[in-house]
Amino acid sequence: MNKKITVIGSLNYDVILKIPRLPFKGETLTANGATFSAGGKGANQAVQAAKLKTPTYMVGCVGTDASADFLVNTAKEYGVNVDYIRKVPGSSGMGVINAVEDGSVYACIVRGANFEVTKEDVDNAMPILKESGVCILQNELPVEIIAYAIDKAKEAGCTVVLNAAPAIELPEECLSKVDIFVVNEVEAEFYCHEKIDSVEKAKTEIKKMAEKYNNNVIFTLGKDGAVAYENGTIEFIPAMKVDAIETTGAGDSYIGAVSHSIIEGKSLIEACKFATKCSAITVCRMGAQPSMPTLEDVE
Ligand code: RIB
Repeated sequence: MNKKITVIGSLNYDVILKIPRLPFKGETLTANGATFSAGGKGANQAVQAAKLKTPTYMVGCVGTDASADFLVNTAKEYGVNVDYIRKVPGSSGMGVINAVEDGSVYACIVRGANFEVTKEDVDNAMPILKESGVCILQNELPVEIIAYAIDKAKEAGCTVVLNAAPAIELPEECLSKVDIFVVNEVEAEFYCHEKIDSVEKAKTEIKKMAEKYNNNVIFTLGKDGAVAYENGTIEFIPAMKVDAIETTGAGDSYIGAVSHSIIEGKSLIEACKFATKCSAITVCRMGAQPSMPTLEDVE
Protein backbone atom coordinates (compact mmCIF):
# COMPACT_ATOMS: atom_id res chain seq x y z
CA MET A 1 0.00 0.00 0.00
CA ASN A 2 1.19 3.54 -0.78
CA LYS A 3 2.41 5.22 2.40
CA LYS A 4 0.63 8.57 2.02
CA ILE A 5 -2.80 9.90 2.97
CA THR A 6 -4.95 12.40 1.08
CA VAL A 7 -7.75 14.14 2.97
CA ILE A 8 -10.42 15.87 0.89
CA GLY A 9 -12.46 17.96 3.29
CA SER A 10 -13.15 20.94 5.46
CA LEU A 11 -11.08 23.58 7.22
CA ASN A 12 -12.89 25.60 9.92
CA TYR A 13 -11.95 28.37 12.31
CA ASP A 14 -13.16 27.04 15.67
CA VAL A 15 -14.44 29.16 18.54
CA ILE A 16 -14.73 26.87 21.55
CA LEU A 17 -16.63 28.18 24.56
CA LYS A 18 -16.06 26.38 27.83
CA ILE A 19 -19.40 26.66 29.64
CA PRO A 20 -20.74 25.30 32.95
CA ARG A 21 -24.08 24.32 31.33
CA LEU A 22 -26.19 25.25 28.29
CA PRO A 23 -27.89 28.68 28.58
CA PHE A 24 -31.67 28.84 28.94
CA LYS A 25 -33.81 30.65 26.35
CA GLY A 26 -33.36 34.41 26.84
CA GLU A 27 -30.49 33.97 29.29
CA THR A 28 -27.01 35.46 28.86
CA LEU A 29 -24.55 32.97 30.29
CA THR A 30 -20.95 33.80 31.15
CA ALA A 31 -18.50 31.27 29.70
CA ASN A 32 -15.54 30.17 31.77
CA GLY A 33 -13.22 30.82 28.83
CA ALA A 34 -12.82 30.65 25.06
CA THR A 35 -10.28 29.01 22.77
CA PHE A 36 -9.76 29.96 19.14
CA SER A 37 -8.14 27.24 17.10
CA ALA A 38 -7.80 25.67 13.66
CA GLY A 39 -10.43 22.99 13.10
CA GLY A 40 -12.73 21.42 10.55
CA LYS A 41 -13.07 17.65 10.43
CA GLY A 42 -10.95 17.37 7.30
CA ALA A 43 -8.05 19.49 8.53
CA ASN A 44 -8.21 17.88 11.99
CA GLN A 45 -7.92 14.38 10.55
CA ALA A 46 -5.08 15.48 8.26
CA VAL A 47 -3.21 17.07 11.19
CA GLN A 48 -3.53 13.93 13.32
CA ALA A 49 -2.16 11.73 10.54
CA ALA A 50 0.70 14.19 9.88
CA LYS A 51 1.54 14.45 13.60
CA LEU A 52 1.94 10.65 13.52
CA LYS A 53 4.50 11.13 10.73
CA THR A 54 2.39 9.91 7.81
CA PRO A 55 2.95 12.13 4.74
CA THR A 56 -0.47 13.78 4.39
CA TYR A 57 -2.04 16.03 1.77
CA MET A 58 -5.02 18.29 2.42
CA VAL A 59 -7.42 19.15 -0.43
CA GLY A 60 -9.97 21.87 0.33
CA CYS A 61 -10.81 25.56 0.24
CA VAL A 62 -10.39 28.52 2.57
CA GLY A 63 -11.72 32.03 2.08
CA THR A 64 -10.02 35.39 1.83
CA ASP A 65 -10.87 36.46 5.39
CA ALA A 66 -8.63 36.90 8.43
CA SER A 67 -8.76 33.22 9.41
CA ALA A 68 -7.78 31.80 5.97
CA ASP A 69 -3.99 32.13 6.35
CA PHE A 70 -4.19 30.94 9.95
CA LEU A 71 -5.96 27.73 8.87
CA VAL A 72 -3.47 27.00 6.08
CA ASN A 73 -0.40 27.93 8.13
CA THR A 74 -1.49 25.88 11.13
CA ALA A 75 -1.99 22.76 9.00
CA LYS A 76 1.42 23.38 7.41
CA GLU A 77 3.13 23.84 10.79
CA TYR A 78 1.77 20.46 11.88
CA GLY A 79 3.32 18.87 8.78
CA VAL A 80 0.37 18.70 6.37
CA ASN A 81 1.08 19.38 2.68
CA VAL A 82 -1.15 22.39 1.89
CA ASP A 83 -0.37 22.76 -1.84
CA TYR A 84 -3.90 21.60 -2.75
CA ILE A 85 -5.78 24.08 -0.55
CA ARG A 86 -7.34 26.76 -2.73
CA LYS A 87 -8.34 30.28 -1.69
CA VAL A 88 -11.80 31.43 -2.80
CA PRO A 89 -13.45 34.85 -2.31
CA GLY A 90 -15.46 35.14 0.91
CA SER A 91 -15.43 33.59 4.36
CA SER A 92 -13.64 30.47 5.53
CA GLY A 93 -15.57 27.70 7.25
CA MET A 94 -16.24 28.15 10.93
CA GLY A 95 -17.10 26.03 13.95
CA VAL A 96 -18.84 27.35 17.08
CA ILE A 97 -18.56 24.80 19.82
CA ASN A 98 -20.17 24.87 23.25
CA ALA A 99 -18.08 22.58 25.42
CA VAL A 100 -19.97 21.87 28.63
CA GLU A 101 -18.13 21.05 31.86
CA ASP A 102 -19.69 17.56 31.97
CA GLY A 103 -17.81 16.72 28.75
CA SER A 104 -20.74 17.08 26.34
CA VAL A 105 -20.25 19.16 23.20
CA TYR A 106 -22.86 21.13 21.21
CA ALA A 107 -21.43 22.30 17.88
CA CYS A 108 -22.59 24.32 14.86
CA ILE A 109 -20.65 24.82 11.66
CA VAL A 110 -20.76 27.52 9.01
CA ARG A 111 -19.99 26.06 5.58
CA GLY A 112 -18.16 29.06 4.11
CA ALA A 113 -15.41 28.19 1.61
CA ASN A 114 -15.82 24.44 2.23
CA PHE A 115 -18.83 24.52 -0.07
CA GLU A 116 -16.72 26.00 -2.88
CA VAL A 117 -14.70 22.79 -3.38
CA THR A 118 -15.26 21.67 -6.98
CA LYS A 119 -14.86 18.51 -9.05
CA GLU A 120 -11.89 20.27 -10.65
CA ASP A 121 -10.21 20.47 -7.23
CA VAL A 122 -10.65 16.70 -6.95
CA ASP A 123 -9.35 16.17 -10.52
CA ASN A 124 -6.30 18.32 -9.73
CA ALA A 125 -5.62 16.05 -6.76
CA MET A 126 -5.46 12.88 -8.90
CA PRO A 127 -1.63 12.74 -8.90
CA ILE A 128 -1.54 12.75 -5.08
CA LEU A 129 -4.48 10.34 -4.82
CA LYS A 130 -2.48 7.93 -7.00
CA GLU A 131 0.42 8.20 -4.51
CA SER A 132 -1.88 7.67 -1.49
CA GLY A 133 -2.88 4.43 0.20
CA VAL A 134 -5.82 6.03 2.01
CA CYS A 135 -8.20 8.85 1.09
CA ILE A 136 -10.24 10.29 3.98
CA LEU A 137 -13.52 12.13 3.38
CA GLN A 138 -16.17 13.67 5.65
CA ASN A 139 -19.61 15.23 5.15
CA GLU A 140 -18.61 18.91 5.41
CA LEU A 141 -18.41 19.31 1.59
CA PRO A 142 -21.32 19.29 -0.91
CA VAL A 143 -22.77 15.77 -1.41
CA GLU A 144 -22.00 15.72 -5.14
CA ILE A 145 -18.33 16.47 -4.38
CA ILE A 146 -18.19 13.71 -1.76
CA ALA A 147 -19.69 11.25 -4.27
CA TYR A 148 -17.28 12.37 -7.00
CA ALA A 149 -14.28 12.20 -4.65
CA ILE A 150 -15.19 8.63 -3.61
CA ASP A 151 -15.19 7.60 -7.28
CA LYS A 152 -11.90 9.33 -8.07
CA ALA A 153 -10.19 7.98 -4.95
CA LYS A 154 -11.30 4.44 -5.85
CA GLU A 155 -10.10 4.98 -9.44
CA ALA A 156 -6.71 6.04 -8.01
CA GLY A 157 -6.53 2.81 -5.98
CA CYS A 158 -7.04 4.32 -2.51
CA THR A 159 -8.72 2.69 0.46
CA VAL A 160 -11.59 5.13 1.07
CA VAL A 161 -12.42 6.11 4.66
CA LEU A 162 -15.68 8.06 4.95
CA ASN A 163 -16.41 9.82 8.23
CA ALA A 164 -20.10 10.48 7.62
CA ALA A 165 -20.22 13.51 9.91
CA PRO A 166 -22.33 15.54 10.17
CA ALA A 167 -25.01 12.95 9.36
CA ILE A 168 -26.70 13.78 6.04
CA GLU A 169 -28.54 11.77 3.42
CA LEU A 170 -26.01 10.14 1.09
CA PRO A 171 -26.75 8.17 -2.09
CA GLU A 172 -26.81 4.42 -1.23
CA GLU A 173 -24.18 3.67 -3.87
CA CYS A 174 -21.75 6.03 -2.10
CA LEU A 175 -22.00 3.96 1.06
CA SER A 176 -21.34 0.71 -0.77
CA LYS A 177 -18.24 2.13 -2.52
CA VAL A 178 -16.64 3.20 0.76
CA ASP A 179 -14.13 0.76 2.30
CA ILE A 180 -14.32 1.98 5.90
CA PHE A 181 -17.38 3.85 7.17
CA VAL A 182 -16.92 5.73 10.46
CA VAL A 183 -19.60 7.45 12.54
CA ASN A 184 -20.20 8.35 16.18
CA GLU A 185 -23.23 7.09 18.10
CA VAL A 186 -25.42 10.07 17.12
CA GLU A 187 -24.62 9.70 13.42
CA ALA A 188 -25.01 5.91 13.65
CA GLU A 189 -28.60 6.43 14.85
CA PHE A 190 -29.27 8.57 11.77
CA TYR A 191 -27.95 5.95 9.34
CA CYS A 192 -29.33 2.86 11.15
CA HIS A 193 -32.69 4.41 12.16
CA GLU A 194 -32.15 2.82 15.58
CA LYS A 195 -31.07 4.22 18.95
CA ILE A 196 -27.51 3.15 19.74
CA ASP A 197 -27.70 3.13 23.53
CA SER A 198 -25.49 0.19 24.44
CA VAL A 199 -22.47 -1.69 23.17
CA GLU A 200 -24.72 -4.67 22.39
CA LYS A 201 -27.01 -2.48 20.28
CA ALA A 202 -23.97 -1.04 18.51
CA LYS A 203 -22.78 -4.58 17.71
CA THR A 204 -26.18 -5.56 16.29
CA GLU A 205 -26.52 -2.45 14.15
CA ILE A 206 -22.92 -2.37 12.93
CA LYS A 207 -23.34 -5.91 11.57
CA LYS A 208 -26.50 -4.96 9.68
CA MET A 209 -24.86 -1.86 8.26
CA ALA A 210 -21.62 -3.57 7.22
CA GLU A 211 -23.49 -6.45 5.59
CA LYS A 212 -25.87 -4.10 3.79
CA TYR A 213 -23.10 -2.02 2.25
CA ASN A 214 -20.42 -4.74 2.16
CA ASN A 215 -17.78 -2.64 3.91
CA ASN A 216 -15.94 -2.33 7.21
CA VAL A 217 -17.45 -0.02 9.81
CA ILE A 218 -16.48 1.76 13.03
CA PHE A 219 -19.00 3.19 15.51
CA THR A 220 -17.25 5.46 18.01
CA LEU A 221 -19.11 5.63 21.32
CA GLY A 222 -17.46 8.57 23.11
CA LYS A 223 -16.11 7.78 26.56
CA ASP A 224 -17.28 4.16 26.23
CA GLY A 225 -14.93 3.34 23.34
CA ALA A 226 -15.77 2.00 19.89
CA VAL A 227 -17.17 -1.01 18.08
CA ALA A 228 -15.45 -2.13 14.89
CA TYR A 229 -16.62 -4.54 12.19
CA GLU A 230 -13.78 -5.99 10.14
CA ASN A 231 -14.53 -8.63 7.51
CA GLY A 232 -17.14 -10.39 9.64
CA THR A 233 -15.43 -9.95 13.02
CA ILE A 234 -17.00 -7.54 15.50
CA GLU A 235 -14.97 -6.20 18.41
CA PHE A 236 -15.62 -3.73 21.21
CA ILE A 237 -12.54 -1.59 21.92
CA PRO A 238 -13.00 0.15 25.29
CA ALA A 239 -11.82 3.74 25.71
CA MET A 240 -8.96 4.57 28.06
CA LYS A 241 -10.11 6.15 31.32
CA VAL A 242 -8.81 9.73 31.44
CA ASP A 243 -9.85 13.06 33.00
CA ALA A 244 -11.19 14.76 29.88
CA ILE A 245 -10.73 18.53 29.62
CA GLU A 246 -12.42 19.18 26.25
CA THR A 247 -13.42 16.65 23.61
CA THR A 248 -13.58 18.65 20.33
CA GLY A 249 -11.70 16.75 17.64
CA ALA A 250 -11.49 13.47 19.58
CA GLY A 251 -13.28 11.64 16.76
CA ASP A 252 -11.03 13.29 14.17
CA SER A 253 -7.96 12.29 16.14
CA TYR A 254 -9.32 8.72 16.12
CA ILE A 255 -9.90 8.70 12.35
CA GLY A 256 -6.51 10.25 11.54
CA ALA A 257 -4.87 7.64 13.76
CA VAL A 258 -6.86 4.72 12.30
CA SER A 259 -5.84 5.82 8.79
CA HIS A 260 -2.19 6.17 9.84
CA SER A 261 -2.22 2.63 11.27
CA ILE A 262 -3.82 1.19 8.13
CA ILE A 263 -1.04 2.78 6.08
CA GLU A 264 1.38 1.04 8.46
CA GLY A 265 -0.24 -2.31 7.55
CA LYS A 266 -2.26 -2.86 10.72
CA SER A 267 -5.67 -4.59 10.72
CA LEU A 268 -8.68 -2.32 11.32
CA ILE A 269 -9.13 -3.64 14.85
CA GLU A 270 -5.43 -3.08 15.67
CA ALA A 271 -5.74 0.40 14.14
CA CYS A 272 -8.70 1.13 16.45
CA LYS A 273 -6.68 0.07 19.50
CA PHE A 274 -3.92 2.51 18.53
CA ALA A 275 -6.46 5.28 17.76
CA THR A 276 -7.99 4.84 21.23
CA LYS A 277 -4.68 5.97 22.73
CA CYS A 278 -4.49 9.01 20.44
CA SER A 279 -7.99 10.26 21.20
CA ALA A 280 -7.43 9.69 24.93
CA ILE A 281 -4.59 12.21 24.73
CA THR A 282 -6.59 14.61 22.53
CA VAL A 283 -9.40 14.97 25.10
CA CYS A 284 -6.94 15.95 27.83
CA ARG A 285 -6.17 19.34 26.23
CA MET A 286 -8.20 22.26 24.77
CA GLY A 287 -8.96 22.56 21.03
CA ALA A 288 -8.82 20.02 18.23
CA GLN A 289 -5.50 20.27 16.38
CA PRO A 290 -3.31 21.65 19.20
CA SER A 291 -4.30 18.78 21.49
CA MET A 292 -3.64 15.91 19.09
CA PRO A 293 -0.63 13.76 19.99
CA THR A 294 2.56 13.17 18.05
CA LEU A 295 3.96 9.66 17.62
CA GLU A 296 6.35 10.35 20.54
CA ASP A 297 3.43 11.42 22.77
CA VAL A 298 1.63 8.15 22.08
CA GLU A 299 4.72 6.00 22.55
O1 RIB B 1 -14.99 17.26 14.77
C1 RIB B 1 -14.73 18.52 15.30
C2 RIB B 1 -14.79 19.56 14.23
O2 RIB B 1 -16.10 19.58 13.71
C3 RIB B 1 -14.50 20.96 14.68
O3 RIB B 1 -13.15 21.30 14.50
C4 RIB B 1 -15.48 21.80 13.87
O4 RIB B 1 -14.87 22.75 13.07
C5 RIB B 1 -16.31 20.81 13.08
O5 RIB B 1 -15.87 20.66 11.78
